[in-house]
Amino acid sequence: MVLRIGTFLVSSARIGFPRTGMRIALQFSLLALGACSAPAEEAATESVASELPVGLAHRGERLFETAFPGTNGRSCATCHVREDHTVLNPAHVAATLAANPADPLFNRLDADDPTAAVPTYEHLKKGLVRVVLTLPANMDTIDAAGNVNTPADRKIAVWRGVPTVENTAITAPYQFDGRKGTLQEQAQAAVEAHSEGGTVKRVDLDSIAAFQMNQFTSIRAKLVATQLAFGVPVEEIERPELKLRPLLTPAQKRGLDLYTATCEPCHGGATTNRIVDRNVHDFAIPELKPDGSGNVLFDTSVTPPVPVRANQPHNEFLNIGIANLTAFGQFGFPGIFTTNVPMPQYRFRFYTDATRTVATADLPPAPVFDPVTFQPLRDENGAPIVGPNFLPQFFSTDPGRAAITGDPHDFEAFDMPSLRGIANTAPYFHDNAAETLRDLVNIYSRFIVQFFPMLNRPLVNPPEPGSFVPESFTPQEKDDLIAFLQVL
Ligand code: HEC
Ligand code: HEC
Repeated sequence: MVLRIGTFLVSSARIGFPRTGMRIALQFSLLALGACSAPAEEAATESVASELPVGLAHRGERLFETAFPGTNGRSCATCHVREDHTVLNPAHVAATLAANPADPLFNRLDADDPTAAVPTYEHLKKGLVRVVLTLPANMDTIDAAGNVNTPADRKIAVWRGVPTVENTAITAPYQFDGRKGTLQEQAQAAVEAHSEGGTVKRVDLDSIAAFQMNQFTSIRAKLVATQLAFGVPVEEIERPELKLRPLLTPAQKRGLDLYTATCEPCHGGATTNRIVDRNVHDFAIPELKPDGSGNVLFDTSVTPPVPVRANQPHNEFLNIGIANLTAFGQFGFPGIFTTNVPMPQYRFRFYTDATRTVATADLPPAPVFDPVTFQPLRDENGAPIVGPNFLPQFFSTDPGRAAITGDPHDFEAFDMPSLRGIANTAPYFHDNAAETLRDLVNIYSRFIVQFFPMLNRPLVNPPEPGSFVPESFTPQEKDDLIAFLQVL
């Protein structure tokens, strides 16, 4: 029985609801979620027309898998590998390189550093693809001494993982920095950037979008998508996982509870990608000093001084310090998947406007710290001199959303990812900093959760064998969380 429930919970669903109508379908699925009965399996195998235009979706599937004429031979599926839940994982890159180094995947355009004398594909082997971005008009790149060194074409390159296109019916906006609002816009940009193609016909873009919008990780994801498509406000849609509770193993149940307490504030609601706790959200976006240094503004009227929160009510992008951890990885910091791969080393200057005359922030700010303890020094008011990552940071590997908005509050901030089907899409984070779910949970336990006092998870647990870092979670809690993430 457990096995059967497992199959149902994680069933990779290109599943349609019965034609008899959505209402019945919803009731049926909710029943199936609540009771361990035979129809659950029937639902998972019965694939009939959904509310989405399936003819278009079938056409889109072919287009997704076939290179457009006149391009460099790459299709969407070259990177969004169908057998791997439409991500690009290191094992696939290694196998393809061994089998056929002439595969269109290995185009140096974005699969390697185009200026390298000999291609090594070392980033691609970590699942990373080169993404080129044009700096907003109010930003420059600067060197360690603060001199402007923006390239003439104003372009920067970053290395990013390949996200899945599953559940994209409910995860707009797209790209790790949210720079594309629709799947059509996204597909057109992908054809130009990755396949060196031109303008794609509207019907082809619509077909690809229809195909992607029909890719779900589970019947639960599709259930949520269908309700959204029928106009049910997202806040009113219940998290279907709560209905699963009676079917979960004790470990998965404990994992669900831990998820609800410490992950749900950000990966929240029925879409698993909404920041539902504004207190956590606001805490993650500190205000910067008005002196242009890029250091965080502290309220020094209280002891100890606390960071002033920026007022960003409509900002749904957050910096949880992953790019900073990746930068530490460049110095050999353990547990980061890209440690042995050179990542870019940027600093940015932000200005009030496109004339670039009045600077507002240098990010990351030049580190001011005690070389022995690595602790930040304090300013004349007793506040620590730290940038938005609250740690001495020498460079940025990826400015994130800030390269789209030109807003320093968006420095190293990324789109809130949805977590359904997450067990199938390793490595994790925008730059594949975590190789496995266990590495990811270790990163949260050691370096992230503690920073949010309202999550009530200080570093009370001792380091694990072989590690020197105290933990927010116990080994049991980590196992429980992973057990739940595996069926999410
Ligand atoms: C060379 C590899 C490559 C190819 C080919 C490619 N993509 Fe992507 N795709 C990526 C990368 C890398 C990202 C993330 C880029 C970023 O966030 O800056 C991405 C992001 C996406 C996203 C955003 C998903 C999300 O949740 O935000 C969608 C959708 C997508 N691609 C669809 C397509 C389609 C459709 C095609 C074909 C027309 C395509 N891709 C071709 C590498 C590729
Ligand atoms: C303060 C908000 C916040 C909290 C709390 C939080 N996350 Fe995240 N999570 C994010 C952001 C932002 C990202 C994207 C970061 C990036 O890619 O650099 C992310 C990324 C992830 C990813 C990678 C997704 C992918 O497709 O690569 C996983 C998995 C994840 N979080 C799981 C968790 C778990 C498990 C918890 C609870 C222990 C948790 N998160 C708590 C904000 C949060």
